[in-house]
Amino acid sequence: MAECRSKPSVAVIDSNPNDRKQLANAIGNYYSVTQFSEADAALVGLRKAPPALIIVDEMLVPCGGYDFIGMIRADRALATIPAMVISALDVKRVRDSIIRCGGNGYLPKPWMADAVLKNISKTLNKAVEKKWELLPEIQRVALKGTLENMNHVAEALETGGTINYADFRSKCTPLIKMVYDGNIKSVMEAVNEHDNYTFAHSFKVGTMLALFGSAIGLPEKDQLLLASGGLLHDVGKMSIPLEVLNKPAKLSADEWAVMKRHVPTTMEFLASCDDIPKGALIIAGQHHEKLDGTGYPNGLKGKEVNELARMAAIVDIYGALTDRRTYKPGMEPEVAFDIMTQNMSTHIDMDLLKVFREVVMDQAR
Ligand SMILES: [Fe+2]
Ligand SMILES: [Fe+2]
Repeated sequence: MAECRSKPSVAVIDSNPNDRKQLANAIGNYYSVTQFSEADAALVGLRKAPPALIIVDEMLVPCGGYDFIGMIRADRALATIPAMVISALDVKRVRDSIIRCGGNGYLPKPWMADAVLKNISKTLNKAVEKKWELLPEIQRVALKGTLENMNHVAEALETGGTINYADFRSKCTPLIKMVYDGNIKSVMEAVNEHDNYTFAHSFKVGTMLALFGSAIGLPEKDQLLLASGGLLHDVGKMSIPLEVLNKPAKLSADEWAVMKRHVPTTMEFLASCDDIPKGALIIAGQHHEKLDGTGYPNGLKGKEVNELARMAAIVDIYGALTDRRTYKPGMEPEVAFDIMTQNMSTHIDMDLLKVFREVVMDQAR
């Protein structure tokens, strides 16, 4: 599956020029969009540059959207690409036709931009999660356990519920086994493709914190704490509107204030759950503090910043620089470490950074 390194590519295939352009505009900030107005040109274009997702209108000229998806499923180069159908009919009336032709999702017409983005993301993620089946069992189980954990958190945040920490921690155990196993390169690449940013970023931070802990000789129970703390450190971001969280341009002062709210939101949520260990609360509460006192939310300085939070800050910044976002490709590890070493010496613990750099570079060798 070919993919733009920063934005996943989506082909919008619709014979109505207004509808096609409107949809392309609505998703263009988040996806790299190609447009086609009829079936034959679309097939040629898709074979030339297979996208991550195909969205086709049911009234496509000349064959209709369902037959078009049938043609894609019969084409070896395109057969596995997920395809969604745009329809003005209710989902109950089109569900059977979508399943019969081999489609993977549905977009109602007229649509709301927010719902369209959520639906596209859901369909893309299902395809990415299907590819996990090809990974070694130890990595597959770690990814699935983490996804379940993060889905429980998302549901709890939405409904005002809580999570059971003992369950959460036990689902982190495969992640620790995966770190012991040593080969995390392919799993990190696999999770980078996932379209749920908070999940992908948290998986990387949890895994790398556990790796960091293992490299400095911490016992398994502390590695488990680091992994859980890493997975939970940003859960408040799940409440941030996507247009702010994934904004491709600089945030306004108001949007930045919304973004920074993710720390208190995370802390309020974790405080409402029983038995969250102090270490995980420290990681979540202090990972944006800086040693010179210019961080947030409390402007802690020097020794006030806990060792666990210093480790988390390093892993979090490294994660953010190397993460693929809708507005940028992921940075190469060496480039990220050079930036951190040269520009952040007053913000982060340089001794710990040296150790972490060695840990990551060892993995890459
Ligand atoms: Fe954060
Ligand atoms: Fe983070």
